[in-house]
Amino acid sequence: MSSAEIEYAARLLREGNLVAFPTETVYGLGADAQNEAAVRRIFAVKGRPASHPVIVHLGSASQLQTWTRSVPSIAHTLARRFWPGPLTLVLKRSAVVSDLITGGQDTVGLRVPANPMAQQLLTAFGGGIAAPSANRYGRVSPTTAEDVRTELGDLVELILDGGPSEVGVESTIVDLSSGSPALLRPGGISAEDLERVIGQPMSTAPASVIRAPGMQAAHYAPLARILLADSSRLASLAERERRKGHSVVVLSPGMPSLPNGIAHIRVPEALEEYARVLYRTLREVDRRRFDVAIAQSPPLTGLGLAIQDRLTRAAAANFDQEP
Ligand code: TXA
Ligand code: MG
Repeated sequence: MSSAEIEYAARLLREGNLVAFPTETVYGLGADAQNEAAVRRIFAVKGRPASHPVIVHLGSASQLQTWTRSVPSIAHTLARRFWPGPLTLVLKRSAVVSDLITGGQDTVGLRVPANPMAQQLLTAFGGGIAAPSANRYGRVSPTTAEDVRTELGDLVELILDGGPSEVGVESTIVDLSSGSPALLRPGGISAEDLERVIGQPMSTAPASVIRAPGMQAAHYAPLARILLADSSRLASLAERERRKGHSVVVLSPGMPSLPNGIAHIRVPEALEEYARVLYRTLREVDRRRFDVAIAQSPPLTGLGLAIQDRLTRAAAANFDQEP
């Protein structure tokens, strides 16, 4: 990546345009966070409801003061340990933060991404970059520049290509705006790693409070119908779906013995590697036009929590389908 291209991208942002850029989690659809017209365009391009808040990306933790009005010491601790990296902190917002960014809430989500190109862009731009994942609302997040092109095409002025995202699932979101730390979305940093630093277990947000659109039941959805199952049930479920006339693929590590006519995509056993290829795999399911994908439930440790979360939400998007 030439510095000329980064300078060009920063200028586009300053002029109120949208720039898609790589982060270590997924690709983001960026706009100048202090330009309301530009932020409005993010929502229009994604087809995303206006009530859903957007994360503001910063070049370094030293910019926290600009965007927040109080930073509890645990925020400094987490920032020191995990930034730059796949962690978003929800904090009380300052007056510079537009209602468009927060969905009218009193808090703002902030993250310092680690991807070198994201870092260069943030440094060249100087301010905060508002960026949701660069996909259409409710669909699978992009982990390559090509994915962004497929999702958004000409609707975005520039797509910076930084190669495939290393983490592959979105950042972990921790709410520090009220009494005790709450996990709003499992993601690229495991709950165990966070809790070790926080020194106490995090609460999880009550399901009734949908403050994070990624936390709605149906999200991250490919076109195929997704089912989740334990390893012992993969074959019977696959056979049941095949008998209904569907083309079926099983996603699992290892090589289960499957009935004839059932396809298999092997996913990595190591959870960090599985996370890295999860969205690519869901896109492959669609590219190969399977009707149904039956995914083996991952263990719920480390990044398994984020993988299970995304698969569950992808499965919840099976609306208009029989159970
Ligand atoms: O890894 C990531 O977080 C990626 C990359 C591009 O940084 N971004 C991302 O953005 O996943 P998006 O918009 O697809 O999801 C951001 C999540 C949403 O669920 C949103 O509701 C939540 O962050 N969020 C943002 N601000 C919030 C706030 N003030 N309170 C609660 N949730 C917030
Ligand atoms: Mg998203």
